[in-house]
Amino acid sequence: MSPRLKGLKVLLCVSSGIAIYKALDLASRLRKAGSELTIILSPEAREMVSDYVFSAVGNCPVYHDINQVRDGWILHTELSRWADVVVLAPATANTMAKAASGIADNLLLATILAAPDKPRLAVPTMNTRMYENPATLRNMKCLRDNGWHVIDPELGELACGEFGMGRYPDNSVIVGELVYTITKKALAGKKVLVTAGPTRERIDSVRFITNRSSGKMGYAVARAVRNAGANVTLVSGPTGLSFLYSIETIAVESAVEMRDRVSERLSESDILIMAAAVADYTPESASEEKLKKEEGPLELILKRTPDILLELKETEGKLLVGFCAEGKHLVQSCSEKMRRKRLDMIVANDISGTDSGFDSDYNEVWFLFKDGRKIHIPRSPKEDIAENLASEIANLQQR
Ligand code: CTP
Repeated sequence: MSPRLKGLKVLLCVSSGIAIYKALDLASRLRKAGSELTIILSPEAREMVSDYVFSAVGNCPVYHDINQVRDGWILHTELSRWADVVVLAPATANTMAKAASGIADNLLLATILAAPDKPRLAVPTMNTRMYENPATLRNMKCLRDNGWHVIDPELGELACGEFGMGRYPDNSVIVGELVYTITKKALAGKKVLVTAGPTRERIDSVRFITNRSSGKMGYAVARAVRNAGANVTLVSGPTGLSFLYSIETIAVESAVEMRDRVSERLSESDILIMAAAVADYTPESASEEKLKKEEGPLELILKRTPDILLELKETEGKLLVGFCAEGKHLVQSCSEKMRRKRLDMIVANDISGTDSGFDSDYNEVWFLFKDGRKIHIPRSPKEDIAENLASEIANLQQR
């Protein structure tokens, strides 16, 4: 979870989609992430789930009555001032239509109308035919034009039994998009190519050589630079991680494939962040068939893989960021690697500890810059490190 969620004042506005039960989990996640919640239910949403359940799950006040005055304050203006961000989830076609036209005939809509200056996120969920109706699409466009971040629903089976667009996305996607909504767009207009995960080098049709990289750091970096407004392409080795919302992801297996995809995309990119743990060796030849075991040892001859960063051409004017993993002499050997690979910056990953680095949710790193600057980031969640990295990259772009 992003550190930006801690202490964030989230006004969660809930309208009456069937996916309302999932909004309870959203409230619970935000609470666990340290956000301060206030919830408003539309009158129809209250018919589905009581204030009591939302209040207990969100550990927060829940309002619905437009005529209620709290301590002498009118609720809709008071709450619109209080919020750092407004989240409308689920967002029904009806509530979006009214919000797009500035109708304010319940507390939820009046509060939204009073918050045009706040970051706002809407999560449309409904039956496909309602979603695809030009009126709904027009209303969503209108909300976007008015500054809302409206996320696309998922394709899948709907509560009514039909299959199509309109499903409520996973709450991890919504929380991620909430962070996007509140993040300053310091990398707006930049195209960023990020690599992540391990590579897989084939021995035969069922066996391969790989490494312990989980891809978590690279995926967190892709998300962080996208949250900062960049247009991101992710070239990913095999990981067990979910696809990232709104990030074009190109799946690759081997170092050679990763090299090919990176070189194809580099010319259109402003920034390359090589977070992938690219294998340095690959079997000299891979068998098409599954190798049969025989008596005695098996000899495997490995050859070097291409060094993607060293092979890059036409890097003039592009910002190149690498990663390196070392136990001993971390800063010295990573600085040498930065020079040798002609990088602007390298993230030196301390893998001497047992509770950070590979496969973990935490890392301890140094940011090393080509001008000799060094920044130490003590053991922190990979999301925090990625957000720090995104802002350092934005600073380098502005120099
Ligand atoms: N890299 C690359 N092509 C490779 C290997 C690595 O472009 N064939 C990139 C990595 O993505 C990383 C940087 O080069 O950004 C440093 O990786 P590497 O040289 O493998 O360094 P370490 O991970 O520290 O490992 P070692 O020096 O032990 O190989």
